Amino acid sequence: MDNKPLDVLILAAGLGTRMRSDIAKVLHRLDGRPLINHVCRTAAALAPRRVYVVVGHQGNEVRDAVLEELEDEHVEFVWQKEQLGTGDAVNAAREHLESAGSELLVLSGDVPMIKAETLAGLVRQHQSHRGKGAACTLVSVELADPTGYGRVIRDSAGLFEKIVEQKDGTEEELQIREINAGIYCFDTDKLFDALARVSNDNAQGEYYLTDVPGVMKEAGEAVSIFKLKDGLEIEGINDRRQLAALERSIRRRAVKRLMLDFGVTFIDPDRTYVAGSVTVGRDTTIYPNVTLEGQTKIGDGCIIRSGTRIADSKIGHGVEIKDNCVIDNAEIANRCTIGPMAHLRPGARLEEGARIGNFVEVKKSVVGRNSKVNHLSYIGDATIGEDTNIGAGTITCNYDGKNKHRTEIGNRVKIGSDTMLVAPVKVGDGSVTGAGTVVTTDIPPKTLVVGAPGRPIRSLDEKD
Ligand code: UD1
Ligand code: MG
Repeated sequence: MDNKPLDVLILAAGLGTRMRSDIAKVLHRLDGRPLINHVCRTAAALAPRRVYVVVGHQGNEVRDAVLEELEDEHVEFVWQKEQLGTGDAVNAAREHLESAGSELLVLSGDVPMIKAETLAGLVRQHQSHRGKGAACTLVSVELADPTGYGRVIRDSAGLFEKIVEQKDGTEEELQIREINAGIYCFDTDKLFDALARVSNDNAQGEYYLTDVPGVMKEAGEAVSIFKLKDGLEIEGINDRRQLAALERSIRRRAVKRLMLDFGVTFIDPDRTYVAGSVTVGRDTTIYPNVTLEGQTKIGDGCIIRSGTRIADSKIGHGVEIKDNCVIDNAEIANRCTIGPMAHLRPGARLEEGARIGNFVEVKKSVVGRNSKVNHLSYIGDATIGEDTNIGAGTITCNYDGKNKHRTEIGNRVKIGSDTMLVAPVKVGDGSVTGAGTVVTTDIPPKTLVVGAPGRPIRSLDEKD
């Protein structure tokens, strides 16, 4: 039997009342990314024909988040104007899908941990059910505490009978611990037939997608259950407590993986916050209250002290980052030393052996090999050569109120304390500025400059 094409539909229109938030639930972040992005990435791994996303609350923002994950031509957005329930959300896609002749995988935007292998298993079971495929296959699991989820009711033969929502269940039904994960594979054409027969006569006055399998079963269609062993993958996020619990388990798993597979020392694993996407090299030591986010890569033998946050940055080997630094979109070569209390902003690049000291801010600048900016300085839109020393309190005055300008400092330069470099300006190799100099014009190589504004007073070569 030839399999039908696979389409995916993701439900993401709800506000998520239980989050008590002004932000649509699927935009809340887990492991640094919106919930909807997790689901989209997993859906894409199955290489479906098309992904449909039902949007409503903050639909434009949800669409923007989805488009960060999926190519425009593979995704179709469907608007659900009023949120009348999960069944109504699917119905919003009727005109796109009712005669699509596909299998439709329905995912929830608030069930972010589901794995692609699991979904592939679901689709396989659905297609092969009793040799000719089922009308619907739903994912279930037994939970110690099923509160809040829809319950899967089986008949006396153990076959699927119906799903009952928490708010509609009898006391006896609510004793059942097998829950509906909110993930289904449908024969698309049969889904839309059955959906037309679903009413909103229930405790919430909503059109429940969960009524569809029961309606199908009554009509004599085959409904199968894909039962999982472990509940972690299908945990739904309905409130902040659930969001925090999943975040904790993802971060714990990331720390465990770095310890066991990568050989990283954590002084206190429970007090370190590492996103799943981060890699750290062998024999690096990480102190408590460090946060590592995004696409951060840290090399071997580094030391990262307490209170430091590193996001989307590349750190070489043997780097020491002292306490309370913020490093964002920066690149740091081997053997650099940073901090304490330093701020490396986007576009900061330190070459091998460079040192950045306390209360120094670096933005969109290169600090060359073995150069030092040790105290209380701002280096923005600058290039600093090799073996140069920048004295305490130096500022690159890069902004004239309208535009940003560059400062170029050569090799083996000594910038005196409290020098103001009024950009655009260049300082030649081997030059020196005295304390408090205001540099407004380019300084040739090997020149000593003092004063405000700095005037060249003599050539260093003459005296040598
Ligand atoms: C749903 C299921 C429940 C299941 C649980 C698993 C129904 C009626 N119940 O309950 O059986 O155990 O998921 O997590 O389906 N949405 C829309 N439009 C709407 C309503 C919801 O797009 O009108 C979206 C939401 O944004 C969300 C998803 O559908 O992403 C699920 O809705 P939610 O309200 O969270 O349903 P649950 O109460 O969790
Ligand atoms: Mg939910």
